[in-house]
Amino acid sequence: MKHLALLVMSVLPFTFFIGCGDINTTKEQPAANAGKDAAAVETTSEKPGLHEPGAFEDPTVCSHCHREICEEWSRSMHANAWTDKWYQPDYIQAHQETDGATDLLCGACHAPIAARTGQLPPADGSKFDATSRRGISCDFCHTVTGIEQMYNMGHVSTPGNVKNGPRGDGKSLYHEVKYSELHTKAEFCGSCHMVIHPTTGVHIIDTWDDWKNNEYGKQGVTCQDCHMTPTPGVGKNPGRSALMGKKRENRAFHGFIGGSSYVQDELGNHKQAEMSREFLRAAAEVKLADNVMDDGTLELKVDVHNVGAGHKIPTGTTYIRIMWLQVEVTDSAGKVVYSSGHIDNKNHVDPDAVFFRVLFRDAEGNLTGKSWRAHGIGYDRRIPANGMDSETYRIALPGKGEYKATTRLMYRSMTQQSLDDIAKRTGETLPPVVSVEMAAAQTTVKL
Ligand code: HEC
Ligand code: HEC
Ligand code: HEC
Ligand code: HEC
Ligand code: HEC
Repeated sequence: MKHLALLVMSVLPFTFFIGCGDINTTKEQPAANAGKDAAAVETTSEKPGLHEPGAFEDPTVCSHCHREICEEWSRSMHANAWTDKWYQPDYIQAHQETDGATDLLCGACHAPIAARTGQLPPADGSKFDATSRRGISCDFCHTVTGIEQMYNMGHVSTPGNVKNGPRGDGKSLYHEVKYSELHTKAEFCGSCHMVIHPTTGVHIIDTWDDWKNNEYGKQGVTCQDCHMTPTPGVGKNPGRSALMGKKRENRAFHGFIGGSSYVQDELGNHKQAEMSREFLRAAAEVKLADNVMDDGTLELKVDVHNVGAGHKIPTGTTYIRIMWLQVEVTDSAGKVVYSSGHIDNKNHVDPDAVFFRVLFRDAEGNLTGKSWRAHGIGYDRRIPANGMDSETYRIALPGKGEYKATTRLMYRSMTQQSLDDIAKRTGETLPPVVSVEMAAAQTTVKL
């Protein structure tokens, strides 16, 4: 059946299409890898639950028919989850500091096919075949048949000819199609978007828990509803999922847009980066209330509302991501009389700014953004879904006159500090992180 389908494919004109997006790896056929590495296969048979190398198909195979989906996915952070040069230094540092204890933990989510086919360890990925290097890809997600635990990746894999999806009513010459309710549910995402430190129990990433217990979770507005459409909010994306597939009112978009506009721009995916900025801008609103006291003090109350995200903002790797407030007051001549949250000439944010983020506490009680060192939560200030947080600034105005107060809610998908740390450790200087303005508000006051 499979061979027949491939034969059919090879006579169709779209055979010239060679996969989705740039592939920086050699394009080996997955079948050619099966059983090639005798040592790896041996390990496979020793460890129950492991599959043979080559058991999962390469996205290039799927791209023959699922062309658009493949293009979208190739620009997603899922496709970059292993090769991501903002991930790799953190992963290697964890490996070094824990003597390799974290290899399979991190790899389970960032390189699930490698982790499940005995290609990890070694930690450096030198045993990975081409499919393993492509992060979280089609055949990993679409051969999932269950979930055993709702954190640290509890997906059950059944690789093979049956592809599980949200409909099950389509016909494919290449594979069987099976309806899977799981794929339409937030649990499918949650088991990876919930990271718990295996020894200290600290919640490293809590998107799933947070969603499950908020209004979106209770009303069943799923991760897929918001993240598998190209625009913010619960939208529609009409089209076909395969070249010869049926026309659908809402075809699942596979770009998985999130906050990573900086990384996306650096990867050359400028359209995806812009979509990411749209998501960020749709998530928050800022409102101002001012009160000028008799003694010349301006009381500026800043309310930050989470209006568009189904979880706290920021979420995910909130120990690398930051959101903060920039407040600036200028006099009628445009001179700055007060400023908070500015960026200095080394691209660092004013340390006295109001930050919305998480930091861990390590064994010595110091604040850290290194997840494997987490012994507790050291700092946690984020805006809950459908909720808000306020901060009141007390600003001494220098004299009579009219003043303009501007507030901006800013976002960085990682801190400049985390990039400086990478440069210090590896010698590789990554481009400076770029900020995104999520929301802004302005008011004029008189003294
Ligand atoms: C020969 C063409 C072809 C190839 C190659 C192919 N598919 Fe499909 N696939 C289809 C068609 C056609 C459909 C039905 C689409 C429709 O009508 O909506 C489909 C449907 C699906 C579905 C949807 C199931 C559902 O519930 O609707 C999934 C998931 C899927 N394919 C995954 C894959 C994966 C993963 C690969 C690569 C390993 C792959 N496909 C390779 C043609 C193909
Ligand atoms: C992170 C997991 C993940 C990855 C990676 C992934 N998918 Fe999907 N895919 C899903 C989920 C979940 C759905 C169902 C979304 C929904 O609820 O409608 C889906 C839906 C689909 C559908 C049906 C679309 C529709 O609306 O009819 C097809 C076909 C498909 N995927 C193919 C692919 C192909 C091909 C790739 C690789 C290029 C891929 N997927 C990568 C999770 C994934
Ligand atoms: C196998 C584990 C796994 C599954 C399943 C999974 N994810 Fe992810 N997801 C990841 C990892 C790992 C990253 C981070 C990759 C990176 O940045 O290197 C990520 C990143 C993301 C991002 C961030 C994108 C950005 O721009 O920062 C979004 C949004 C996302 N996933 C949504 C989803 C949704 C929705 C689902 C379910 C349909 C899902 N994920 C299923 C592991 C997973
Ligand atoms: C109501 C729509 C909605 C729902 C439901 C939703 N998200 Fe989001 N998500 C957003 C928006 C908007 C953003 C952009 C704001 C941001 O980056 O924090 C976002 C950002 C993210 C990010 C990037 C992290 C960040 O803070 O920059 C990840 C990862 C993510 N979502 C995963 C998920 C997962 C997993 C689920 C389900 C458990 C989910 N989302 C449910 C709207 C939603
Ligand atoms: C249970 C799944 C899971 C495990 C285990 C896991 N991660 Fe992740 N990782 C994710 C998800 C999901 C994201 C994306 C969250 C977001 O977008 O905010 C992510 C994102 C990251 C990022 C940010 C990458 C970027 O481009 O922004 C780094 C760095 C990272 N993880 C390092 C690690 C390290 C190191 C380990 C092991 C100590 C690890 N992760 C273990 C799921 C996991």
